[in-house]
Amino acid sequence: TTTAAQFPITLDTIAGLSIAELAEQFGTPFYAYDAAKIVERIDDLAPFDVVRFAQKACSNLAILAWVRKHGVVVDAVSAGEVRRALAAGYDATEPMPGQPGTRQIVYTADLFDREALDLVVEHDLPVNCGSPQMIDQYGERCQALGRERGVTLRINPGFGHGHSQKTNTGGEQSKHGIWHEQVADCVERAAKWGLSIEGLHMHIGSGTDLEHLGQVCGAMEKIALEVGPSVHSISAGGGLPTPYRDGDARVEIAGYHKLWDATRDRLAEAFGHAVSLEIEPGRYLTAESGSLVAEVRTVKQMGSNLYYLVDAGFNNLARPILYGSYHPMAICHTDPAHAAGGEQDAIVGGPLCESGDIFTQEEGGFVSARRLPHAEVGDLLVIGCAGAYGYVMSSNYNSKPMAPEVMIVGGKAELIRERQTFEDIVRGENVPQWD
Ligand code: LLP
Repeated sequence: TTTAAQFPITLDTIAGLSIAELAEQFGTPFYAYDAAKIVERIDDLAPFDVVRFAQKACSNLAILAWVRKHGVVVDAVSAGEVRRALAAGYDATEPMPGQPGTRQIVYTADLFDREALDLVVEHDLPVNCGSPQMIDQYGERCQALGRERGVTLRINPGFGHGHSQKTNTGGEQSKHGIWHEQVADCVERAAKWGLSIEGLHMHIGSGTDLEHLGQVCGAMEKIALEVGPSVHSISAGGGLPTPYRDGDARVEIAGYHKLWDATRDRLAEAFGHAVSLEIEPGRYLTAESGSLVAEVRTVKQMGSNLYYLVDAGFNNLARPILYGSYHPMAICHTDPAHAAGGEQDAIVGGPLCESGDIFTQEEGGFVSARRLPHAEVGDLLVIGCAGAYGYVMSSNYNSKPMAPEVMIVGGKAELIRERQTFEDIVRGENVPQWD
C-alpha cells in the first residue's frame, strides 16, 4: 500500500508551472490538468486486459484523445458522450489498435433516449444494457436490420457501496442495472431478438472501497455461471477510490486485480474459452490530475468565523455542496509578503448568492473551517483532486461563465477549452415580440 503524495497547504506550481503565471495567462477561475498524472494512473491499471474510461468524470475532447493515445478505450452514457468519443478520435466499429477484439466505444446506460438509440444503431455500437427494456428496444432495431448482435448486461447484484448514498449504485435503493434475480428472464428476452449475452458488467458505486469491490467478484461469478459460455468478457465497473485527504492510502491495484483474475480464470475454465477482464474507472484516472484555481476576492471576519471568498463557486465545482465531499486546498501567495501571515482556520466559499456555496463543507458539517495559510485579496486558492466530476458538473448558475480548462503536457500549458463568453451563456434564448 502506498500513501498518496501529501497535498501541501501552500503551493506555487502545478506540473512545474507557476500557478501565478497560469492565472495571469488564463484568468481565474480555471481548471488545470497535469497530463502526466493521468498516464501514471493508466499505468497502474496495466494488469487489466481492457481499461475503459468512464468519460463522464472528465470528458474534454483533449482528455479523451490523451487517454486514447495511451491505450484506454471509452464508455458513453448518452448521445453526447458518443459524439464526444467520435470527435476525440475513437472509432465506432474498429477494434482498439493493438487490442484485438476490444471495441473502442461502448454505450452503457439504464435507458435509451430516442436520440441515443438512433445513434447507437447508426454507428453499430456495442451496448451494455442496464434494463430489460433496453434489450427489447435494441433487439427490435437489430432484428429489423437483420443484424445478429451480442450485448452485455449490467447487473445490479443486490448490494452496493459508495462515498455517499448518492453514488451507491447497487441494491434496491439504486435505479441502476438489471436486478440480479431477473437475469434468466433477460437472457430469454435477448434470445427472442437473436441477441446473445456476450458480456457481464457490474458497477456497485463510486468512491467505494476494496472490501465492497471484492464482494462483486463472487456475485459476478455466480451470475456468469448462470448465463453460461456465451459470456466472453466481464467488467469490474468503475468505483476505484482515489486519495483525497492527506494520508489516504492509494488502493492496491495488484491485490484487487488478483481477485478478479481468479474469478476470470475460474469462468474461463468453466466455459472452455478465454474471458477478457475489463475495468471502467472514471475518477481513478483523472481526479488527482486536476486542480481548480481561483482568486481570493474577499477576506472577512463574521463573528468567530473567518471567510475566504474566491471567484469560483459550486457552479464550477459541485462536489462539496452535493455530497459534502472533501477536497484538499492550498494557497498560492502572489505577494511574498503575505506568506509571513502564518496559518489560520478559514471557511472557503465562492461568489454565488446561496449560503451553501462553501467548499469547506463536509457531510454533517455545513461550514467547517480549514487550517490554511493567511491569505489576502489577490492570492490564489488551489482546490486539488478536482479532475473528476469537476468541470463536467459545472453550470451557469448566477449567469457565471463556465471556466476554461488547461492541460499541461511536458511543461507546456495548452488551453483545451475557452472560458465561456456572455454570448455563449445566452445563446439560444429568445425574447418573443409581445404587443
Ligand atoms: N461505470 C459506471 C456504469 C458508472 O455509473 C460510473 C460512475 C463509473 C463507471 C465511474 O465511476 P468512478 O470510477 O468515477 O467512481 N459525481 C459523483 C460520481 C458519480 C459517478 C457516476 N457513475 C462524484 O463526484 O463523486
